[in-house]
Amino acid sequence: MFVILIAAALLAPAYSFYTCDELSFCSNIRYNFDGLSFTLTNIQIGDAVTGDLVNDQTAESFQLKFVALEGDTFRLTVQDSDNSRYTPENDALNGAPTEQPLTLVSSSDELYVVSAGDNLVNLYLSPFHIEIVRDDQVIIEVNKANRLTINTGDDDQSVALDISFPVANAAYGIPLHAEGLSLSSTGPGGLSSYRMFNVDYGSYPTNTRESLYGAIGVLYGVSSFSITSGLFWMNGAQTFIDITNEGDGVDSLFISETGALELFLFAGPTLQECVRQYTALTGVTALPQYFTLGYHQCRYSYMTQEDVETVVAEFDNHNFPMDVIWLDIDYSDGYKYFTWNYTAFPDPVGMQNNVLATGRKMVAISDPHIKAEEGYFVYDQALEQDFFVKNPDGSVFEGVCWPGLSSYIDYFNPAAQEWYGELYLLENFPDSTLNLYIWNDMNEPSVFEVDELTMPGNLSHYGGLQHKDIHNMYGFKQTQATRAGLLKRDPTKRPFLLTRAHFAGSQRYTAMWTGDNVASWEHLRISIPMILTESLAGMAFCGADVGGFVGNVEDELHQRWYQAGAWYPFYRGHSDASTVRREPYLYPDDIQARIRSAMRVRYVHIPYWYTLFFEHELTGDPIVRPLSYHYPQDEAVLAIDEQWLIGSSIMAAPVLYEGASSVTTYFPGGDNEYWLDIANGNVYIGGASYEIPVDMDSQPYYYKSGSIILTIQDEVRSTEEHRDSSYVMYIFTDADLQATGNFYLDDLESFDYRNQVYLYYQFNYDGENLSVESLNGDADYDREFTISEINILTPAVPFSEIPIKPTHTVIDMNIAFGKIKAKTMINLSS
Ligand code: NOJ
Repeated sequence: MFVILIAAALLAPAYSFYTCDELSFCSNIRYNFDGLSFTLTNIQIGDAVTGDLVNDQTAESFQLKFVALEGDTFRLTVQDSDNSRYTPENDALNGAPTEQPLTLVSSSDELYVVSAGDNLVNLYLSPFHIEIVRDDQVIIEVNKANRLTINTGDDDQSVALDISFPVANAAYGIPLHAEGLSLSSTGPGGLSSYRMFNVDYGSYPTNTRESLYGAIGVLYGVSSFSITSGLFWMNGAQTFIDITNEGDGVDSLFISETGALELFLFAGPTLQECVRQYTALTGVTALPQYFTLGYHQCRYSYMTQEDVETVVAEFDNHNFPMDVIWLDIDYSDGYKYFTWNYTAFPDPVGMQNNVLATGRKMVAISDPHIKAEEGYFVYDQALEQDFFVKNPDGSVFEGVCWPGLSSYIDYFNPAAQEWYGELYLLENFPDSTLNLYIWNDMNEPSVFEVDELTMPGNLSHYGGLQHKDIHNMYGFKQTQATRAGLLKRDPTKRPFLLTRAHFAGSQRYTAMWTGDNVASWEHLRISIPMILTESLAGMAFCGADVGGFVGNVEDELHQRWYQAGAWYPFYRGHSDASTVRREPYLYPDDIQARIRSAMRVRYVHIPYWYTLFFEHELTGDPIVRPLSYHYPQDEAVLAIDEQWLIGSSIMAAPVLYEGASSVTTYFPGGDNEYWLDIANGNVYIGGASYEIPVDMDSQPYYYKSGSIILTIQDEVRSTEEHRDSSYVMYIFTDADLQATGNFYLDDLESFDYRNQVYLYYQFNYDGENLSVESLNGDADYDREFTISEINILTPAVPFSEIPIKPTHTVIDMNIAFGKIKAKTMINLSS
């Protein structure tokens, strides 16, 4: 068992987390598998394949169902004969997936072959295993190693299965771990498995397979030379995963403590297609309000109303942009959520309105533990309505968290969900306003003073569920209720919610962050693959605490973190209660200037981020992407953890090492692609690494050739001022002098975009003319906007030297505005 002593300042005791080898259900499966095999009998081929799956050793029989889904996806379900194993399908999936008929190709005593779309499926009857074949290659193997296990003992209901990607040369996915993007092998040397079990792991170590706050069972077998495919292991219970990645394909073994065996397979054929297949199943993050893409300022805690208002004023006094100021637990009366500490916050409504008057919003924390105190209205109501999680004997479970003895809402009870959501209505949350958004924390759930700092597995939930069946979904269910409540509170505005615990499908309800990281260079670096992995697992709106939550942050690290964090989808500075205050205005002028300029880089590109979030809702493409997302055949990018793409047009490659005087940066795309450092005009040709010199002011990022990017250069206090800003367009052409880029705009806050009230344009530059076309002819939005400057940047030809200065020009254009109506005519005053 790992024993971790965390900083005394964190108030929590030493705690420890289990490995597979320490839990009998897991170690039995991991090590005792000789002689296991199953036979598929009574096979029926209709629209789906069904049959009885018989354990050759015990003769126990299970129901197998295999269906093809739209979009090169397959689903395998194995259930008990009485269908009693729990499946998270009603929560994890975004509605019932659309099935696609399978066609029988051939059958024999040994093998059934069926097809769907471009894929063939070989179903071997004995020993039972499955192959997915595409382009004449086996791309996925299921149970090839005969590790399928379904235990049916009273004390052991575990399930396991091996899945391989024979043509993959990297494995990505299964967040959340503090690990690199390309997952390291756990075998055959017997290293500990990746664990998925949501826990409150403050100051977590880096490069570990231990479980953190979220669990998403999506794994991609990534191939730089062939087909990339993937899987989604849909199970709400504790799960361990072994990965073997020793050059000859990627093998995985999934072991879950309980539940039905539910497996989805994605036939790709690219990483991008796999991610789209996964998000087609589990949903996307709806377009957030524009302000949420600005900078968020948080601390555990701003202790008084005056403190809050001073921080906001100091941001203004020192000309730092900020969109949201956050309230951690101390705003509440004794950590009783939906109440205020009126001594410290005498006028909460006044405070929220004052913040609003500066063009900013607020977020308040609201945790799932409810102080067990008679007279506290939330506790009383939940107790009376029987809405708490129960002990095995039926009494209400009590555990310790911030307020002391607490009970925990059972969000699996639909009535409790609805009631909890409605606590966020203005009439139920006294002195809240519509300017207050929500943060659900400690929702793994965190329970102090007990084994693994969370609920015991034998607690009971609504509908006869045991906690162990749904452990990884507890936080998911809280955020599901919260979002519903926020929508009820104000159906006209897009809610904002941040969560720590998360599960497959959480992206439909909430943004997430990587919890209690540490103010260290390792944590700055590891935040990037953590965020990329979450992004590939659907959690598009993700971030890490800028500065590192635990411990005091050195000046240099803090500046670098502001520079790198400007390229996280969710950009928030946060710090633990025991740390020295670190608001940016507290620093000497030179440091302030650098942090300010890092934040400005964020604000300059918010129109671009906003367009990406809109496009994410359309396609499922993540906002930030590993390089392999767009350069799938380049083996050199498979394991890059220190650079990433924002959309496809911007690459971040920030400084991540102490005392760095240069950054080694790989530019993808081959020698037909060029990358522009807009800060100094240097251009780099793709397909090679360069040693880029840096100083403390450097925040390296690059525009890709062939891109058109709209920016806002105005120095604003918050995104509220972006409403009046004009746009500065950058056209960075490719070698053929072509460029293209999309731009999305709406009212920045409401759901009207769902009724086609928006502008979504594609700009195209052909070397002479700039044209614009609407990407959705039916959509329209009565709004004029101005492009005040167009910069056409063309890499110098021929490309004889590195770096190459582009030609910076602002020229008069011959513009064809085909589809744009007069009322939305772009005013070009260059
Ligand atoms: C734990 C969270 O991870 C952290 O961000 C927060 O400040 C503390 N809980 C206090 O609420």
